[in-house]
Amino acid sequence: MFKKMRDNAPCWCKSGKRYGECHKEYDQMISRLKEAKKKIPSRKIIKNEMQIQGIRESSKINIAVLDYVAEHIRIGMSTEEINTLVYEKTTEMGGIPAPLNYKGFPKSVCTSIGSQVCHGIPSVNDVLEDGDIINVDVSTIYNGYFSDSSRMFMMGNVHPEARRLVEVTKESINVGLSQVVPWQPIGNVGAAIHEFAQENGYTVVREIGGHGVGLQFHEEPFVCFVSDWNTGMIMAPGMVFTIEPMINMGEADIFIDADNEWTVYTDDGMPSAQWEVTVLVTEEGYEILTY
Ligand code: MF3
Ligand code: CO
Repeated sequence: MFKKMRDNAPCWCKSGKRYGECHKEYDQMISRLKEAKKKIPSRKIIKNEMQIQGIRESSKINIAVLDYVAEHIRIGMSTEEINTLVYEKTTEMGGIPAPLNYKGFPKSVCTSIGSQVCHGIPSVNDVLEDGDIINVDVSTIYNGYFSDSSRMFMMGNVHPEARRLVEVTKESINVGLSQVVPWQPIGNVGAAIHEFAQENGYTVVREIGGHGVGLQFHEEPFVCFVSDWNTGMIMAPGMVFTIEPMINMGEADIFIDADNEWTVYTDDGMPSAQWEVTVLVTEEGYEILTY
């Protein structure tokens, strides 16, 4: 597997530090886990301190953009106007909206209302109404580094059942975060979230999940939110990924809009909610980069 490196050689993570003082112990741990047949992360998704700093800076813009949306979002506003808010705030701060032209996505942000699960495309025709719940998913590139987060907004008088869905989904992020423990398998994050959602009478979308992020928009691993305990890739310090469960009030089944080939809906037309954070695995636990 890994080439044996000399202690004095520069570390493979490109920190500029000597290997013996950088990722040597890390590699020893990885070797042990590999022998124990665990799924280990490839080196290319392990970020060094400089890259982490870059992702932190990107995340600051990402958070500021969502704060800006939170300040301005209101009943009567179209999702196209949210798109404008995101584009203008992001570019004003020196960033680039990652979704824009990503695999043909036509806008700067995803806006998903009600039974839309994710990847809603902003439009002048979609106007926020009293009682709507909406997810605004902002992804940012700054200085080449990617960050990603989303929040739910509740417009005016939201039905108590929809409100509970939004709140439980928000709480599920904390449930997932509690399982971000270095050297443990990432399946624990999804297993905990899935159990929590089920206890609350909800279902979790299976086909779409979180992802590694930072140097690219979507990196390994895929983060499933219906995973089994003690499965999946080991969470190693230096990994950055998103926790972004989509939780449905009704059944878990979904379909993709055949016209735009993007927007995902619940099959049964019941509401869906999603919150998303970007998290860094550290030696001690984790650091939340976006929220
Ligand atoms: N945060 C979403 C994701 O990671 C953003 C998708 S942007 C889109 O899937 F362009 F792909 F829609
Ligand atoms: Co994401």
